[in-house]
Amino acid sequence: MIPDDGEMIDGAIHVIPTPSRVRIQEGFFALSAGMRILVDQASPDLECVAAWLARKLSTVCGFGLSPAVTSEERGPPGGILFSSKDANAALGPEGYELDVDPEGIRVSASTSAGAFYATQTLRQLLPPEIEKRERVADSQQWVIPAVRIHDAPRFAWRGMLLDCCRHFMSTEFIKRYIDLLAYYKMNRFHWHLTEDQGWRIEIAEYPELTRVGAWRAQADGIRYGGYYTKSEIREVVEYASRRHVTVVPEIEMPGHALAALASYPELSCSGGPFEVALDWGVFEDVFCAGNDATFVFLEQVLSEVMELFPGQYIHVGGDECPKDRWQSCPRCQTRIAAEGLRDESALQSYFIKRIAAFLERKGRKLIGWDEILEGGLAPCATVQSWRGTNGAVEAAKLGHDALLSPTSHSYFDFDLSRIDLRQVYSFDPIPKELKGRECEHILGGDCNMWTERAPQDTVDQKVFPRLTAMAECLWSEVDNKDFSDFHHRLQHHYERLRELGVDYGAEFAETAV
Ligand code: ACM
Ligand code: ZN
Repeated sequence: MIPDDGEMIDGAIHVIPTPSRVRIQEGFFALSAGMRILVDQASPDLECVAAWLARKLSTVCGFGLSPAVTSEERGPPGGILFSSKDANAALGPEGYELDVDPEGIRVSASTSAGAFYATQTLRQLLPPEIEKRERVADSQQWVIPAVRIHDAPRFAWRGMLLDCCRHFMSTEFIKRYIDLLAYYKMNRFHWHLTEDQGWRIEIAEYPELTRVGAWRAQADGIRYGGYYTKSEIREVVEYASRRHVTVVPEIEMPGHALAALASYPELSCSGGPFEVALDWGVFEDVFCAGNDATFVFLEQVLSEVMELFPGQYIHVGGDECPKDRWQSCPRCQTRIAAEGLRDESALQSYFIKRIAAFLERKGRKLIGWDEILEGGLAPCATVQSWRGTNGAVEAAKLGHDALLSPTSHSYFDFDLSRIDLRQVYSFDPIPKELKGRECEHILGGDCNMWTERAPQDTVDQKVFPRLTAMAECLWSEVDNKDFSDFHHRLQHHYERLRELGVDYGAEFAETAV
């Protein structure tokens, strides 16, 4: 972060991601049991954020606060005021201003998201003990340095993918990740829910998906797996929305579908039978693109998915779909001929376009990995570029939106010898080939946590601290980024991460254990 006076005041401010503008002032404000938390009467949307902060301060500091509505203009001396009345519209829907002086704290934001991010900044300005989950001794001082912050994100999409298929992750673990994402001002949880190795989402119309597809018979004889019930999914989506995180479900098609085919083999080209995959990799058996039953099935699955996930975007994968089966399948070949398609790549494009049109009729938007460009991109589709950045460049030049999660910077399943903290930090989601208005098509990016080699209890070590670097790449302005400054601030986060129960790993390969 670059203080306005040009001087880094060490020990004062270690916010990640670094805010747009910071002015460190004289003095400090100390929270106390007698203070008030107020919400301007014209800003009812911010009440939930004030209540969230009051609850946290009550649990940890024992203050017993509850927010009240006020008509006071400046806020309470010795308290915190949340207001959207004169919020700076230029900061956008997620921006905020935070003004701490010895008299009190003012949070100004036009939306509850902005106020929520101001509150996350406030957490990071407080001593690390604020992250304890139990009451801290009364001798603890809750002091915040006087500071004025203007802040807004560079990108609207700041996400993390978690693969809950290769290894199953509990809903408690997922909620914890949503908390951690929100703490670092990330706002998309990309939930990878279907794979060759496991189908993880309950679908009422197709019970075999979770009776058969959610389980695999390991070599050690143990039946490994699990799935999320609809009520668990609703709980996660609701939990995330209270933290301004949108959950984006990913339902893979036409490839990475062996668990679905093990459940309903008639949706394949050959008819099966199949087993839920035990090995990692890419498998030749995929959904048959020539069989209308495949589309009936997927439309029903997606209808149930859309009931659970209210967000605008549905991710349909689209990556790594071998064409071998389609080449020898009479139904797929008939489809190619009937639709006047050039080849099997065009058949994949037909598949994704048909699904995109279905989603569009339901008022949603399709996202797919960059393979959905092959054979022709569906109208309105958003491309997630993972094989480098070319997919995003091509999509943006075609006038489509794109997300970046290139293997060069954002694959947190890769070892530190390939992607260390500095490498993540050097990520700029805008590919250099894009100019002017084309850049507006870049919504932001994801870091991807694939879990072939990462059962739940090892995920923290791979994700942290790299996620903190990614958060800064997606939120902070390029001109405010500086690796050594970030690295210095990060050192102050380890104690916080320990309080948050994060079993973080190393920053660089040399220091990895
Ligand atoms: C991917 O890593 N196959 C998107
Ligand atoms: Zn077929």
